Amino acid sequence: MEVITVANNKGGVGKTMQCYQLACHLAYKGKRVLVVDLDSQANLSSTFGVQIQRTMIPEWLIGDVEAEDIIVPSEGTEDFHQNISLIPSSRHLANLSKLLILSDTEIRRTSGRKERLLRKRLEKVTEQFDYVVIDTPPVLGDELIMALVASNRILIPTQAQDYSIDGLEELMDTFEIIKETENPKLEFNIIPSMVNSRRKIEKQRLEELAQSFNCTPPIRNLVQMQESISTRTPVFLMSGKSRGRGDYQALWESLGL
Ligand SMILES: Nc1ncnc2c1ncn2[C@@H]1O[C@H](COP(=O)(O)OP(=O)(O)O)[C@@H](O)[C@H]1O
Ligand SMILES: [Mg+2]
Repeated sequence: MEVITVANNKGGVGKTMQCYQLACHLAYKGKRVLVVDLDSQANLSSTFGVQIQRTMIPEWLIGDVEAEDIIVPSEGTEDFHQNISLIPSSRHLANLSKLLILSDTEIRRTSGRKERLLRKRLEKVTEQFDYVVIDTPPVLGDELIMALVASNRILIPTQAQDYSIDGLEELMDTFEIIKETENPKLEFNIIPSMVNSRRKIEKQRLEELAQSFNCTPPIRNLVQMQESISTRTPVFLMSGKSRGRGDYQALWESLGL
């Protein structure tokens, strides 16, 4: 089972989009995919047609409930949806940090450190899934740290703008710390996201970014991508000339996915 987290401590860079397209792509290839929505905004959950009153993710992490108690099937009529299971989120997830403090003694006893909770919990479902795709909130908090500890790789969608690239340094520092301490095999990929390559300044920033990091092929800013989310149709199934499909094909190929 490979665990892939999509992360960036900045919002609106295309994380949820990436998770949606990736989970559908893998499921379409026949892989069994578990989607874990760690963002209290729950956008990914609703894109898979699942809206719940109160997420049980905190209880699952602490060990009060098992994964099978909270995993739900994805909604959707296409065959590939049957390969997608979901641990959905809700606004309640915003209380996670408080709950972790309250359960500190128990967590120390069972997992040693709270950073390891998600990894511990996912170890129990390794036989049931080929991939876990994790969406994360736009902050460097408990959810993101836990996801980094639990993952084999992180995909980092990045917009070619100064402030976005500045925020990347903070994330990369955290990545290095996690790699040195809890997860030496963790790998990362920078994915230029929502790119408008006709803008000269973006092109320049992208070139700079590529000098510092090994970047994947870019995903362009396309109206079609927004339609993919609003119609809940992955881009590879959309009709018409699909630039989005081409972008994602090149991306998954470059990542070996
Ligand atoms: N490649 C793209 N082209 C056009 N719009 C996009 C693209 N990727 C994402 N979006 C749109 O931009 C907004 C933010 O994307 P989202 O995936 O929700 O970002 P995040 O999860 O990082 O906050 C959403 O409305 C989404 O539909
Ligand atoms: Mg999001």
